[in-house]
Amino acid sequence: MNDTVLVVDFGAQYAQLIARRVREAHVYSEIVPHTITAAQVRAKSPGAIILSGGPKSVYAEVAPLLDPEIYELGIPILGICYGAQLMALQLGGDVANTGVGEYGRTTLTRSGPTVLMTEWPTTTTAWMSHGDAISKAPEGFAVTASSPEAPVAVMEDVARRLHAVQFHPEVVHSERGQELLSNFLHHVAIMPATWTNTSIIDDQVAQIRSQVGQEKVLCALSGGVDSAVAAALVTRAVGTQLTCVFVDTGLMRKNEGEQIEETFTRQFGVELIHVKAQDRFFDALAGVTDPERKRKIIGELFIREFEAVARDLAKDGEGPRFLVQGTLYPDVIESGSGHAANIKSHHNVGGLPENLAFDLVEPLRTLFKDEVRRVGEELGLPSEIVWRQPFPGPGLGVRIVGEVTRERAEILRNADYVVVDEIKKAGLYRELWQSFAVLPAVRTVGVMGDGRTYAYPIVIRAVTSDDAMTADWARLPYELIESIANRLIREVDGVNRVALDVTSKPPGTIEWE
Ligand code: XMP
Repeated sequence: MNDTVLVVDFGAQYAQLIARRVREAHVYSEIVPHTITAAQVRAKSPGAIILSGGPKSVYAEVAPLLDPEIYELGIPILGICYGAQLMALQLGGDVANTGVGEYGRTTLTRSGPTVLMTEWPTTTTAWMSHGDAISKAPEGFAVTASSPEAPVAVMEDVARRLHAVQFHPEVVHSERGQELLSNFLHHVAIMPATWTNTSIIDDQVAQIRSQVGQEKVLCALSGGVDSAVAAALVTRAVGTQLTCVFVDTGLMRKNEGEQIEETFTRQFGVELIHVKAQDRFFDALAGVTDPERKRKIIGELFIREFEAVARDLAKDGEGPRFLVQGTLYPDVIESGSGHAANIKSHHNVGGLPENLAFDLVEPLRTLFKDEVRRVGEELGLPSEIVWRQPFPGPGLGVRIVGEVTRERAEILRNADYVVVDEIKKAGLYRELWQSFAVLPAVRTVGVMGDGRTYAYPIVIRAVTSDDAMTADWARLPYELIESIANRLIREVDGVNRVALDVTSKPPGTIEWE
């Protein structure tokens, strides 16, 4: 499979970003641990190897190393930051701890003939983050660029196809970073640009067909991006064998059920079972105010509803054998074992247990979120689904503080619609990680027209984030906050006041419960 690039992970978050950038250059990439041996690399027979950056110094006591035989395999290698220093050190060069590192934008000055930076101006801006620096390139390497504190900012051994860059070409602040990666992949390693949305779809369709044969397949649609794209792929592969299940908990966003029906039933012609379970959820949630109990009730009931459908389908003895799951590549990497399904425990509410008697179909297992979105667009899913912000499994249930009732869910659903609608109109929806409304458990006094009101406030929650582990409250423009507030009070019955949540995570969480 020499259309694959192996990205060797030396820690921190760098490897995933590099892997994504490689794919943006239309080459398939796979992340492997730095403990990989030369024999394992040879078995995978990659077209190129990239050594990632890492948080350690090459002189740290437990600095991760690379099996030195990997350099001898004749496979083109690009070392980045830590990976560059390691390559220098392992091949006989020197790395010095100068005590003066470089962090942030740095000027890179080219010198001498290069294959990585052909047609670059003499100086460019590159993003650096290093304490140590290569002080002497190993024999056979030409130094082709330097920066104020990195005499060997880029070194290249064209004959052996070994290249190393001290800066981070994968970050957007490196002016020509993507071009450098692309030069390495296409001009040094001579890898074809075959990883495209069309090739992803064709590969997955073929794989799904060979995995499921003539068997039936079941898929739970949640309204989110991943399950929708996974279902759309399975539809393309074995449409008539697929049954989708959408459990309406009563805690979904406005029009979510209709949109799923419209897309999957009318547009794709898939058999869709729309379970209208709202009453059962509201009954089960009556009088419950504890957030964890709410989560548990919603999660368990969801599974029961789903199992009931599966049992029903199996009645005639020919029930589905396969279950579609929208597992993404980052889940696979983080689980380490190569087997997904260990989604963080509090996030699996609304998901399905592992012990269901199905074999799994996971068509998104090799994909990053941005690839999933592009594939979804190519498959013809509407952009409202493809670009949807993350939504928690328990739905509006964790945004209704206190008791969840039909009436309160309706107030929040309408309020949420207004918040999202205004944010979309302002062109900010895709920039924000999440933006939604929260319904607290208090009522306050207001005055409207001639009358006194006693109704709920709505809290606007909008955050920016990369991964939901940390988040910052979004600095929404005042005019936008004003129009959201005006509309909430005018259009949403039961609301008479609007507040803005200005808490980051930590110390707050993104959701209110
Ligand atoms: P918090 O509120 O913990 O949320 O900052 C982090 C991210 O996870 C989502 N979230 C959930 N997702 N089931 C889910 O599937 C849950 O129970 C759940 N709780 C929070 C939240 O929307 C945010 O994106």
